[in-house]
Amino acid sequence: MPQDHSPPEHEARTSPQDRPDLAEVVSTRLSRRQLLASAAGLGVASMLVSCSSSDANATTSLFGFSEPGWLPDGHLHLPPGYQANVLLRWGDPITNPQALFNPEYQTGLIQQQQFGYNCDFTAFMPFSRNSQDSDRGLLVVNHEFTIAPLMYSGSPLPSQLTPNQLRAEMAAQGASVVEIYRDRSGWQYNPTSGYNRRITPHTPMRFDGPAAGHERLQLNRRDGMHTNGTWNNCGGGVTPWGTVLLAEENFNFYFKGQPSAGPEAENHARYGVTGEAFFNWYKAEERWNLNLDPSYPLHAGWIVEFDPYNPEDMPVKHTALGRMKHEGCTLTLSHKGHVVAYMADDQEFEYLYRFISRYPMTSAAAQQKLVLSEGELSVASFNADGQLLWRPLIYGQGPITPANGFHSQGDVMLNTRRAADLMGATPLDRPEGIAINPQTNRIYCSMTSNKSRTQPHAASPRANNPYGHILELIPGPDGHHSETFTWEIFLLAGRNDEEAGFQHPASTEGSYFVNPDNLVCDAGGNLWIATDGAPDFGLADTLMVCGLSGDKRRYASRFLTAPAGAEVTGTSFTPDGSTLFLSIQHPGASRTSHFHQPLNRWPDFHPDLPPRPSVIAVHRTDGGTLLR
Ligand code: FEO
Ligand code: CA
Ligand code: CA
Repeated sequence: MPQDHSPPEHEARTSPQDRPDLAEVVSTRLSRRQLLASAAGLGVASMLVSCSSSDANATTSLFGFSEPGWLPDGHLHLPPGYQANVLLRWGDPITNPQALFNPEYQTGLIQQQQFGYNCDFTAFMPFSRNSQDSDRGLLVVNHEFTIAPLMYSGSPLPSQLTPNQLRAEMAAQGASVVEIYRDRSGWQYNPTSGYNRRITPHTPMRFDGPAAGHERLQLNRRDGMHTNGTWNNCGGGVTPWGTVLLAEENFNFYFKGQPSAGPEAENHARYGVTGEAFFNWYKAEERWNLNLDPSYPLHAGWIVEFDPYNPEDMPVKHTALGRMKHEGCTLTLSHKGHVVAYMADDQEFEYLYRFISRYPMTSAAAQQKLVLSEGELSVASFNADGQLLWRPLIYGQGPITPANGFHSQGDVMLNTRRAADLMGATPLDRPEGIAINPQTNRIYCSMTSNKSRTQPHAASPRANNPYGHILELIPGPDGHHSETFTWEIFLLAGRNDEEAGFQHPASTEGSYFVNPDNLVCDAGGNLWIATDGAPDFGLADTLMVCGLSGDKRRYASRFLTAPAGAEVTGTSFTPDGSTLFLSIQHPGASRTSHFHQPLNRWPDFHPDLPPRPSVIAVHRTDGGTLLR
């Protein structure tokens, strides 16, 4: 029986340890009194109410709904008055209505016509680009990774997959574009839409930016300008011009061979390319074999832009945004009209980045996907006094020189982590989700956890941080262009008496969560926190909603409880705020569950079907915006 089905969610540190961690716990920044004072004016205790949900002890949130419980069972729970429809499941046919899901016989050809596995990031793109259409649109969904023993009959380990299953597994990663619409019975997808598309590890793509065409991308007769496919797509982003960004995260688990034997040994070590492939795709294609193609990992770790409104559009890997384990890419327009992106590199002791486009956005540049081709990439250095310095990663400046192995700006992009090391970036606790409050321009960054931290730092105040926390970044006088920001701890996740001081005074049991991952701000200035890791604590992963200002600042409330084994991810909204799309990733999974014995068979609950990662659409049963 399989023992451990998923690739490691976090890896051992690969950032340098020989420089001081600025170890300093600044108690004033963690003052309970200070945090409570910021929520002053609120003295209302939450009220216990009975409800029709399974939890008779549910409490009424300050947001007005009754919180579901936090213990996992086989079902998804919402407050009374809300409904979730399953919109798209792994295996649903999207580019060929005949490509029906048969878990006993999945091939690459069939899977590439179906919705992929482990849905993550979602983006609702109104059917007319940049419109407010909230009844019809294109849903873009990432498919992060695959869990072979849970997907295929016989519960094969990745190393036991048949050629057909290997091809199917490859086609189950990447992204989907699906036309969806709302009618009287709720949200549906259109299985015959001409917009429907699968993007997979085989989709032709091109590079742009400083590393495009670089000789280090050219081995094995490649021109360094083109590549094939994207994989391990986690979070993403939506551009102001109506295209979508896909982040390439844990790209390193896919390569077999001797990383130290080739020319990129140092680079591979810094990015965790160990040659011990978790996925066995090297058995099907040479490009995953480091001994045959030692530079191929450099083709991954990028932000990929594509136009979902053009099914023929060739995606672009923007090297100007740096190479890392990209969690996602959260964009905004600055007051000067430049595009600013905030990005996190999800691994223990990795960093937070900012990109500012060189030129203000123009429609001509946007149409050619050029806005993100040139700009300044910086890395965050957090001072214990509450200042954050953005340190630019520019060839020839400071230590980013030939003496340290950099010979061009392209080299800086190919080894962004090393450049950031040299510039004194602050190691963080698995930085993941980033959201910008449209009402204040403040930025929120989730730190999921870091069980390896022994030395606290002001911005990572807990040694052995199993629960995670959320930082708040406040731009300086020049807005998102400011060289210096200030920062605060916004919330500490988890629960113990001491740390409970970081919650709002009206917090209840339902206010606690662990392992914040994806963050999204809604138009009303509320932060939606999706969690990934609660099952390790015997809890269900959850979607929380948290106030950012006013009386509800730092008040977090449980809105949704995921079925056992699932994490919650990919929150997005229709423009009118009436529907929330959400990915329920790896339902029924545990370290030992498998195809024939999952934790549950959500959402079909059919004895012949495995659990299926799915996107749901959540709405109020009485209509209107989700929160009132
Ligand atoms: Fe794919 Fe960092 O989560
Ligand atoms: Ca994540
Ligand atoms: Ca996750």
